[in-house]
Amino acid sequence: MRFTSAALGLAATLGGQLAHAQAGNSTFHNPILPGWHSDPSCVRVEDTYFCGTSTFIAFPGLPLYASKDLVNWRLASHTWNRESQLPGLSWNTTGQQHGMFASTVRYHNGELYVICEYLGIAGAGGNIGVIFKTTDPFDDDAWSDPVTFLTDRIDPDLFWDDDGTVYVATQGILLQTIDMETGELSQPPVEIWPGTGGVWPEGPHIYKRDGYYYVLIAEGGTERDHAITIARSQDIWGPYESYEGNPILTNRGTDEYFQTVGHGDLFTDLEGKWWGVALATRVGPQFTHFPMGRETVLYSARWDEGEWPVLDPVRGNMTGWPLPPETRDVPGDGQFVADPDAYRFDAESPVPKHFVYWRVPRPGTFSMTDSGLEIVPSRSNLTGIASSLDPVMRGQHGLSFVGRRQTFTLFKFSVDLIFAPTEVGQEAGITVFLTQYAHIDIGVVLLESGLSLRFRTEGNGPAPPENVIPVPGNWTEKPIRLHIEADDPTSYRLSASSGCGKPIEVGTASSRRVSGATGSFVGSLVGAYATCNGAGQGTECPEGGVATFQRWVYTPVAQFVDEGVSIPA
Ligand SMILES: *[C@@H]1O[C@H](CO)[C@@H](O)[C@H](O)[C@H]1NC(C)=O
Ligand SMILES: *[C@@H]1O[C@H](CO)[C@@H](O)[C@H](O)[C@H]1NC(C)=O
Ligand SMILES: *[C@@H]1O[C@H](CO)[C@@H](O)[C@H](O)[C@H]1NC(C)=O
Ligand SMILES: *[C@@H]1O[C@H](CO)[C@@H](O)[C@H](O)[C@H]1NC(C)=O
Ligand SMILES: *[C@@H]1O[C@H](CO)[C@@H](O)[C@H](O)[C@H]1NC(C)=O
Repeated sequence: MRFTSAALGLAATLGGQLAHAQAGNSTFHNPILPGWHSDPSCVRVEDTYFCGTSTFIAFPGLPLYASKDLVNWRLASHTWNRESQLPGLSWNTTGQQHGMFASTVRYHNGELYVICEYLGIAGAGGNIGVIFKTTDPFDDDAWSDPVTFLTDRIDPDLFWDDDGTVYVATQGILLQTIDMETGELSQPPVEIWPGTGGVWPEGPHIYKRDGYYYVLIAEGGTERDHAITIARSQDIWGPYESYEGNPILTNRGTDEYFQTVGHGDLFTDLEGKWWGVALATRVGPQFTHFPMGRETVLYSARWDEGEWPVLDPVRGNMTGWPLPPETRDVPGDGQFVADPDAYRFDAESPVPKHFVYWRVPRPGTFSMTDSGLEIVPSRSNLTGIASSLDPVMRGQHGLSFVGRRQTFTLFKFSVDLIFAPTEVGQEAGITVFLTQYAHIDIGVVLLESGLSLRFRTEGNGPAPPENVIPVPGNWTEKPIRLHIEADDPTSYRLSASSGCGKPIEVGTASSRRVSGATGSFVGSLVGAYATCNGAGQGTECPEGGVATFQRWVYTPVAQFVDEGVSIPA
């Protein structure tokens, strides 16, 4: 599917939309990209909206979602989906929250572009800017290798002026021109606007409108003080005039359920009406339980000629401009972001496109077989040894973990495990995973005392006690089914059963364990892992201990849109 074919659908959609517009304003719910979808940037190409989000060290990275109605969003592709696009970078990235920071998604002359700053590369001087492009955003393979550029500043924007000059604005806010072929930036960078005084002026986007260049930014840091502010100038290099009505969007100082609102982008629909996205955290002012981290929200905006834009405040229940007619007629084979998972897994099925790893996986770790998804254990367990000099033991050379985002406040997740460990320490299980230092696990592990179910956690706040229960002797015939359920917004319940027998509860944990701290930029994944807990040599575990997972089911139950207010899935 190429942009040209998208254009063919345009006339029909336009007709439908005009009819719909007369029906009056719409209602919708936030977040539109539920679960960890931080730092959104969006653009419309004809009748299709595209949004990209940040992914740090998760791989594949920089997902791009597509929608024709602003409500149903389908994973179109991952911009960074091949190790060969940035050879060696992933395994050289030490920090849990380094990697791909906030991107800007823009369309120019038949091509979609994603520009981003990659942070924390050990052994190669730190940070690097990357620009990927494609003519077919529904195909991973069509994304280019990146043009790279050198800056230490995060959050690059990409702006084409009418004369063809291309500008990159970064944190600061600094402005440079860029040669799109070579990645060369003009020197020195020019500071065009420091923001209104909040910490971390960042996430800039430049828009040209009615004879002004507008620079929209995030400031105040990405937590409770986060806000969107704006300035304008008739000359792109400044001086910029700060809007006296700043901030134009924030939930700072409120007791709203949606906190941290900031880092936004603006675009128009086919009617010329303005819309925006931003990141927000469903947490409330007490700011304790927010396992899904920063999610993407939508709001309507007004931007009258010669005036400053007016953005609608972010809530769970929203009203705004008439939405395009609801449709799931979006190209591609990715999942719609709020859909459930129900996979049997066999040799014919690919690893679902929305599944992610923690850094680039080791070759040969994950394979689809007729028995299910086979995971070869990693020597590093989910935590690894942070202080080890050996990157393998730090879990930096590919953890044997694969997951999907927790997208709903309340959900049920279960997977069947076939596992016959032969050496003490071999383990396989499922987890709510935020970072290597914040996760909640239920595993089947061979201990000196025999085959056991083990519940353990790492992370923020008080630790619930580790729990070990022998696997009942009469469970041997069937796969062991492992379960994680969020029955309320603040905790998880982990249990195990013999096939569809009655589950035994193995542990419960507060969702605070996987909220913020070492994972303040990321959000929780649920998924499966296998490890030998440090045994073996070099990169290899002792023989055996390969785990097979089948019947992977993630069932959304309810979404909270306000304190105590939920919408059933
Ligand atoms: C990765 O790190 C190694 C060891 O420090 C270094 O030799 C190599 O150049 C690095 N590669 C990249 C792509 O950063
Ligand atoms: C939000 O909408 C939901 C369902 O659409 C409704 O049940 C709930 O009462 C609304 N909440 C508020 C605060 O308006
Ligand atoms: C429709 O929504 C827009 C954007 O929120 C708002 O500016 C406008 O006043 C609304 N119109 C009506 C009739 O409510
Ligand atoms: C295993 O034995 C226990 C205790 O006798 C019984 O309650 C349970 O139903 C049995 N489970 C299976 C899978 O046979
Ligand atoms: C994780 O692995 C390290 C060794 O690599 C080990 O010290 C630690 O005990 C392991 N954790 C568990 C729960 O087995």
